[in-house]
Amino acid sequence: MSDDQVLTEPGNQTRRALLAGAGAVGAAAVLAACGSDDSGQAAAGPTSPAGSGQPLAKTSEIPVGGGKIFADRDVVVTQPKPGEFKAFSAICTHQGCKVTSIEGGTINCPCHASKFSIADGSVKAPPAKKPLPAKEIKVTGDQISLS
Ligand code: FES
Repeated sequence: MSDDQVLTEPGNQTRRALLAGAGAVGAAAVLAACGSDDSGQAAAGPTSPAGSGQPLAKTSEIPVGGGKIFADRDVVVTQPKPGEFKAFSAICTHQGCKVTSIEGGTINCPCHASKFSIADGSVKAPPAKKPLPAKEIKVTGDQISLS
């Protein structure tokens, strides 16, 4: 049997109606399946690396000879010399506390008083032994962003 036979048979209204009904149900099932697939894809969604390329600060926010801690981004941005911007991890290399202040030319950890240079992240006071890792930043005009 083929669809052509169904269409040309006389008195086949009932069968055609049944076929049409089955088609509608099938289409509905396909649409429902598509809907759930779409929502699944939306949940997976496009992702971008957290913090990468996002504006971080304006250059005017970073004091010369000091810096600013962006605790939510785990980044410290410093300006050791006018117009020279540096960025470091805000996580102390001693035991992983977050640094909380920048004073006297150093980035300071509250947990055991380690101090790090604002110029290169090097250790200025123990117990930390390793420097704060540098982070890549990009300065565009007056905008500083993580690169
Ligand atoms: S965790 Fe920073 S000094 Fe110990």
